[in-house]
Amino acid sequence: MQIFRDISSLQLSLNELRLERKTVGLVPTMGALHDGHAALLKASLAENDVTVCSIFVNPTQFNNDDDLKNYPRTFDLDTEFLKSFDCDIVFNPSVEEMYPKNPLLKFNFGGLEQSMEGSHRPGHFNGVAIVVSKLFNIVNPDRAYFGQKDLQQYKIISQLVKDLSYNIELRQIPIKRDDSGLAMSSRNKRLSAGGLKSAAKLNQTLEEAKKSIVDHKDFDKVRTELINNLEIEGISVEYLEYVNADSLESVKNNSPNNSVAVCIAATVDGVRLIDNIIF
Ligand code: PAJ
Repeated sequence: MQIFRDISSLQLSLNELRLERKTVGLVPTMGALHDGHAALLKASLAENDVTVCSIFVNPTQFNNDDDLKNYPRTFDLDTEFLKSFDCDIVFNPSVEEMYPKNPLLKFNFGGLEQSMEGSHRPGHFNGVAIVVSKLFNIVNPDRAYFGQKDLQQYKIISQLVKDLSYNIELRQIPIKRDDSGLAMSSRNKRLSAGGLKSAAKLNQTLEEAKKSIVDHKDFDKVRTELINNLEIEGISVEYLEYVNADSLESVKNNSPNNSVAVCIAATVDGVRLIDNIIF
C-alpha cells in the first residue's frame, strides 16, 4: 500500500497506472475508519483495478471549531485497517496541500441544501462540494464511493457530478450498523458506554417512524411523540424529517410509488449524530 501526502506524487503514480489502462476507484473519507468505510472500500476493491482512499479532515466543511478540533484522528490505526483490506493507495494531504489559500468558490445547490444538514450546518455542503471536486480533479477516478448514511451529501455530490460533467460513476453504499442498530460513525468513538446505549435509540426511532408512515398515521403527531421520547432519554433532537428520497423535499401526502426517507440529527453525550432510513 502506498501513502501519498502531496498531490503531484500521487498524480505521477496514477498517470502510470492509467497508461496501463487500470481503472481507479476513489473512497473519500475523513479517517477514524470503521466498518461503514470498509463497505465502501470493499465495493471499490471489487470493481476497480486500483483503489485510492483519501483521509483528510476537511476544515472547510466544519461550521463549528470545537467539532473540527474534537474530530477523531487515528491515522496509524487507519493505515493498518486499510492494509488489512489490501487498499492500494492512501492519499493523506495536509491542510496546506489542499488549501494553499482559503477557497473563494461558492456553490449553490438550491432546494437540495435548504433543509436538514444544509439548514442546520451553514456552509457545510459548500465545504463538502469544494473538497470532493478537488479530490475528483486530483484523482480523476472512474468510480467514487459514498455512503447512504450521508443521504443529503450523496444527493449534492450527484448534482455536482451532473452540473460539472464529471465522467465519474457514483455508487451509494447502504448504511452499516452495529449490533444495537446504531449507524457506524467516526463520531461514535467519542460516545461513553451510556451514550452508545442511548444512541441506539436513533435507529429505533427511525423504525417506529417508518411503521407509523406505513400505517398511514399522521406524521406530524408521531414526530412530536418520537422527539419527546428521545428528549426524555437526554437526547436532544435537531430534526426528524419525512422526505421524498430523491428530492429530499418534505412529504405531506405520499403517493405509494415514491421512495421516501426519514432522516434524523440528534446530539447524544454532546456528540452530533445523523441517521436515516429509506423505504
Ligand atoms: P466520512 O464521515 O469519513 O465518511 C466517508 C464516507 O463513508 C461517506 O460517504 C459516508 O457516507 C460513508 N459512511 C460513513 N458511515 C457509514 C456507515 N455507517 N455505513 C455506510 N457508509 C458510511 O462523509 C465524509 O467523511 C466527508 O464529508 C467527505 C465525503 C470525505 C468529504 O470530506
